[in-house]
Amino acid sequence: MGKIILTGDRPTGRLHIGHYVGSLRNRVKLQNEEQYDKYYIMVADAQALTDNFDNPQKIRDNVIEVVLDYLSVGIDPNKVVIFLQSEVSALTELTFYYMNLVTVARLLRNPTVKSEISMRGFDNTVPSGFLNYPISQTADITAFKANCIPVGDDQLPMLEQCNEIVRKFNSIYGDVLVECEAYLPQKEAERRVPGIDGKSKMSKSLGNAIYLADTKEEVARKVMLMYTDPDHIKVSDPGKVEGNIVFLYLDIFANDEHFKKYLPEYQNLDELKNKYRAGGLGDVVIKKFLINVLEEELEPIRERRHYYENHLDEVYDIIKKGTQQAIEDANKTLIDVKKAIGIDYFSNQQFYLEINDKYKQG
Ligand code: TRP
Repeated sequence: MGKIILTGDRPTGRLHIGHYVGSLRNRVKLQNEEQYDKYYIMVADAQALTDNFDNPQKIRDNVIEVVLDYLSVGIDPNKVVIFLQSEVSALTELTFYYMNLVTVARLLRNPTVKSEISMRGFDNTVPSGFLNYPISQTADITAFKANCIPVGDDQLPMLEQCNEIVRKFNSIYGDVLVECEAYLPQKEAERRVPGIDGKSKMSKSLGNAIYLADTKEEVARKVMLMYTDPDHIKVSDPGKVEGNIVFLYLDIFANDEHFKKYLPEYQNLDELKNKYRAGGLGDVVIKKFLINVLEEELEPIRERRHYYENHLDEVYDIIKKGTQQAIEDANKTLIDVKKAIGIDYFSNQQFYLEINDKYKQG
């Protein structure tokens, strides 16, 4: 079987450069390599409701933001089916049947769910819908027979759980579902992009994120606020590169061309790091350089976003068409699943013949 790619995001806010480095950039790469049969990107609004059920407006508002972010990083709607999860009712149906194959204890052991439960203070009040979201995610993946999932490494426990459900389903009902594999960013640094405060992973709730939709001025302001080395006070002081967020970002984004263009006094990042360590290189210089480097990546993204913000009819059609396609494709799997379980009563004559056979006279 060929490669079927599927991934998604909860629409709880605009996407930031942590999402970009950790996943979006990879998705565009996969798209441009064109080595796949089908490619889906899903706005996981139903999953987002599992911990935002009391604030549905937030989810509704962010659907368009996330789609605009997809289009602006270069996802091409002619190559990728972009769709809305809640509109694909086969996903909810599949979830219901898969729920039989998972114990509550197993759900509680899922490391991502576990940390989310404690982060949200759900400890004894976890809604069963939230606890079940890994099962719904299994439905998302298996409905499209997806085998390649570009995600960040926080999603690995979800894929592991998905594959367990797939194996269990297939062993009980026959070979219908397909196991999947994660497609992770190559470099370790790309998997966990810290926020500008350097304290933890970039996240909306911590207020330490640089958004893809930020203006040039906002990006510059945030870079100037970035955590560097607190002991590097005077320019002449030796500085630390490890744990220095500016260098961490340069590790991810900078290449030798950038040096030629914006900082020709240095050939490459190693030279710059050595100078910083030795002393005599100020934070303002490295921050200004980082602003230029980031702008090269963010400027085209911003321009595409601007285009789509002014062509919302096009965006609306993209989501609507993509969703129709997804409904069609997922329904096919639902039919296979129901048939395998034996709950396909009216799809052919079989059930009719069985009941008649059972009560045949004479
Ligand atoms: N759980 C993912 C996240 O929080 C979103 C998601 C939902 C997803 N369904 C998926 C990702 C299926 C990959 C495949 O980002």
